[in-house]
Amino acid sequence: MIIYFSGTGNSLAVGRKISAALNDKIIPLVEAVNQDLSSEQTIGLVYPSYDFNVPPAVRMLLPKLNINKEAYVFIVIACGAQAGNSIWTIRRVLREKGINLAYSNKIRVPDNSAIVFSRNPNDQVWKFERFAPRLEKIIDDLKNKKRALHYNSWSFMGWIMGQPKLEKKLIGSFRPASNQEKCIGCGICTKVCPMNNISLSETKKAVVGDNCTACLSCLHFCPQQAIEVGGKETIKNRQYHHPQVQVKEMMLR
Ligand SMILES: Cc1cc2nc3c(=O)[nH]c(=O)nc-3n(C[C@H](O)[C@H](O)[C@H](O)COP(=O)(O)O)c2cc1C
Repeated sequence: MIIYFSGTGNSLAVGRKISAALNDKIIPLVEAVNQDLSSEQTIGLVYPSYDFNVPPAVRMLLPKLNINKEAYVFIVIACGAQAGNSIWTIRRVLREKGINLAYSNKIRVPDNSAIVFSRNPNDQVWKFERFAPRLEKIIDDLKNKKRALHYNSWSFMGWIMGQPKLEKKLIGSFRPASNQEKCIGCGICTKVCPMNNISLSETKKAVVGDNCTACLSCLHFCPQQAIEVGGKETIKNRQYHHPQVQVKEMMLR
């Protein structure tokens, strides 16, 4: 079973390639926590890197998975550049459940947070071709059930950023807000949010709650560019999602 967490489809696309090659099913993490996975012999988790570490949602949901202790458990991180301390964090969370992480690796893809820094994630699509051979190699390793943890060098930044207070602050700085004038109440953001953290008000305007994990799915998929981060308006041609992943496929409800 391949399990993914994804805001803009990079992790979903990587997860799909792996699931096709391994001939295994793929489901979103928010669904996987409600399933009995104890008979699965392979559990693969594909997710992004956030602030040199694991997205808080992944860290919180992972212990809820019902995984067989004998399963071959692997992670693949779809990151802009740096996986940071992600592998250490996941290994620790799994160990606390008596599960050994067998394999880990990372693959570079466009950085969807670049939009927040006024850069265009679409300028990074070259990474798909450049790192395709690396993904093939990872898939080969997984087919052979290889056991190897490919750590990044331990990151002091990642450690600092993973401290609960700072993490909350950092993730909070990516917290989106809905521009009520631009919002047309289409509800796309309510459906793509993996945290189920956005609802429509009585006047059909998006309202963002407090349980945000900063995946930026709402910002990147809003057809009206009505989602803002840090008070900055979203520029249409900088909205990004993996080119082979459609908004429909990102909808979780
Ligand atoms: C809040 C936030 C923090 C991020 N931090 C990092 C980071 O520390 N290192 C990195 O390489 N990429 C970072 N990224 C980029 C994502 O890891 C990358 O774009 C990923 O592929 C997104 O996956 P998705 O499309 O499945 O959501 C960050 C993205 C977000 C939204």
